[in-house]
Amino acid sequence: MTDEADENVQVGLTGRPPRRIPEPKPLDRHGPAKVIAMCNQKGGVGKTTSTINLGAALAEYGRRVLLVDLDPQGALSAGLGVPHYELEQTVHNLLVEPRVSIDQVLIKTRVNGLDLVPSNIDLSAAEIQLVNEVGREQSLNRALYPVLDRYDYVLIDCQPSLGLLTVNGLACADGVIIPTECEYFSLRGLALLTDTVDKVRDRLNPRLSISGILITRFDTRTVNAREVMARVLERFGDLVFDTVITRTVRFPETSVAGEPITTWAPKSGGAQAYRSLAREVIDRFGT
Ligand SMILES: Nc1ncnc2c1ncn2[C@@H]1O[C@H](COP(=O)(O)OP(=O)(O)O)[C@@H](O)[C@H]1O
Ligand SMILES: [Mg+2]
Repeated sequence: MTDEADENVQVGLTGRPPRRIPEPKPLDRHGPAKVIAMCNQKGGVGKTTSTINLGAALAEYGRRVLLVDLDPQGALSAGLGVPHYELEQTVHNLLVEPRVSIDQVLIKTRVNGLDLVPSNIDLSAAEIQLVNEVGREQSLNRALYPVLDRYDYVLIDCQPSLGLLTVNGLACADGVIIPTECEYFSLRGLALLTDTVDKVRDRLNPRLSISGILITRFDTRTVNAREVMARVLERFGDLVFDTVITRTVRFPETSVAGEPITTWAPKSGGAQAYRSLAREVIDRFGT
């Protein structure tokens, strides 16, 4: 753990007056969980980093959180210090073997209140294995159902594609959070993603909606990033979270450390930013 407060928290980067978000109230009972898919078919935009750190920040606020690694790269599992390549049972078994129950796969992390359904490269076979199954888009939904009452939030770290695994994530979600960088090519990708969300809502999951756009890896020094942010705000308005995650080497460091930034560098700007995001999420979902 390193805990020097080395960065300033950047507030008001969107240029809008930030909304007033109340301090989250403690919960005296838990569940049923709100399920949130962290989704963007572009890689390297901060999905996994945001899943880990939003999850850890929600857990700090006393919420019970389950993280689901739905990417065969297993970066979410690795980022929480889980030696995922050695695991016999992962989310893959849960999806393709109906007799495997979630309790056989679920593990506790070192963060109190934060549990994980891990993944590893075995999951890369799932799209092909599921292709001829009846109800193949609902496999994750069926697997998660038994534990929803135990958690306040389930965060699903989707892989960078809009294939069957991601559709499984969207099919069981109440909301989607889209982490995005502020680069020109990200904008076109967002249009494709919102089309996919619309299709999944029409065909599979009527409760699905976009809960928020999270600007990540924001480089305060470049004019281009500011211009793209203005376009994102113009297109998505209030869906864009006030919290903006700026670019800092602290995040790559935490992946090596195998723990969230909230415990690795609790006073850092990055940790405070994800706490601020957690307050916005609690406010939007009301849990
Ligand atoms: N705010 C940030 N500042 C700097 N680096 C970041 C930030 N967020 C994520 N990263 C780094 O960027 C890389 C990609 O992030 P990741 O969360 O794995 O993206 P994705 O899951 O969308 O592929 C990782 O090396 C991560 O440590
Ligand atoms: Mg990832």
